[in-house]
Amino acid sequence: MKVLQKTLLITAVCCCALTACKKSTVENSTLAKAFAGKFLIGTALNSLQIFELDTLGVQIITEQFNAIVPENCMKSMYLQPEEGKFFFDEADEYVAFGEANNMWITGHCLVWHSQAPQWFFIDENGNDVSREMLIERMRSHITTVVSRYRGRIKGWDVVNEAIMDDGSWRQSKFYRIIGEDFIPLAFQFAHEADPEAELYYNDYSTAIEAKCQGIVGLVKSIQEKGLRIDAVGMQGHLNMDSPTVEEFEKSLLAFSSLGVKVMVTELDLTVLPAFRGFTGADVSANFDFKAELNPYSDSIPAEIALQQQNRYIDFFRLFLKHHDKVSRVTLWGVTDKDSWRNDWPVHGRTDYALLFDREYQPKPVVGELIKLTKQN
Ligand code: G3I
Repeated sequence: MKVLQKTLLITAVCCCALTACKKSTVENSTLAKAFAGKFLIGTALNSLQIFELDTLGVQIITEQFNAIVPENCMKSMYLQPEEGKFFFDEADEYVAFGEANNMWITGHCLVWHSQAPQWFFIDENGNDVSREMLIERMRSHITTVVSRYRGRIKGWDVVNEAIMDDGSWRQSKFYRIIGEDFIPLAFQFAHEADPEAELYYNDYSTAIEAKCQGIVGLVKSIQEKGLRIDAVGMQGHLNMDSPTVEEFEKSLLAFSSLGVKVMVTELDLTVLPAFRGFTGADVSANFDFKAELNPYSDSIPAEIALQQQNRYIDFFRLFLKHHDKVSRVTLWGVTDKDSWRNDWPVHGRTDYALLFDREYQPKPVVGELIKLTKQN
């Protein structure tokens, strides 16, 4: 009798283990597997992840994502801090990481009013550089950088944040010295350096109607010159109450109607109160820390976490609805501790803006997003 009982017990244990294993296998699906066939799912890498010093972060990146973008290392102030002096170590490491892990590699960003080295815009006397000289400096930077990664970086954020919320041109040095032609020129130079690379225009607060129309006009001006532009990047730095999914969808459809792809390029969702109405992502905004602006310094209340989860689900439901138009969704960072949101627009706050928590654990929303793909 005993032998039979033992056999039955072992069989029962094995069945449970198998079920648990099978169940855990389904539950342990990944974001990349879940969204396969719909759109690329990516994340931004910081220096510690690029050099693989943040080993837990790297594990999440390689398990959960199939697309990457450098958070900072390819901005012009880091690549060419002095005229003619390029520093490519971290950017080389970033591209090598992407190739080693079979990722879609995006370059960010070639022309941006922020994080550009000051020498770019001044002549030997400290005055504004001439239009011709700035065009040549822009050409030289773009050509040097894009040529270096020709055939390896598959897409570039060519111009970042050139339109204001009211749809007008940002009065950047690029605009003031060259004029609005700096944008088609940047796209032309990038295409000449790598004819195969996809080329994007990238901006935040794109759900604002006036800004959306400004970007539509910008894209059309590039297309009318017969230049290549493959996508509009909707950064997607979301707040808990803005923009609405409907507002975001309206802009998404407006961009898609131009015959370009739409990419959600810098997705995050702050749970902190907007400071002085600051939404968007204008990096120049920064204010000193005040305790009253940092309500969740120790932990996030369950009801707030649930609201954030539901809002992420609402937006990913929208992206899945338009997966024929949306080719990539990239989170702007891996874990909550990595997020720029902890320091913008107020330094030193504790935000919970991303999909993985400070202990490198997937938030419940990750499982909910995976389930979402099984419903669509
Ligand atoms: O690496 C230095 C460090 O050595 C120094 O001690 C420290 C103190 O100032 O600064 C560190 O550099 C910071 C860098 O992030 C790396 O952490 C810069 O000051 C800081 O300005 C920089 O902020 C980045 C910001 O762009 C400006 O470049 C954020 O990480 C990055 O998330 C943010 O990303 C932008 C996108 O590129 C464009 N769209 C908006 C988005 C959010 O602002």
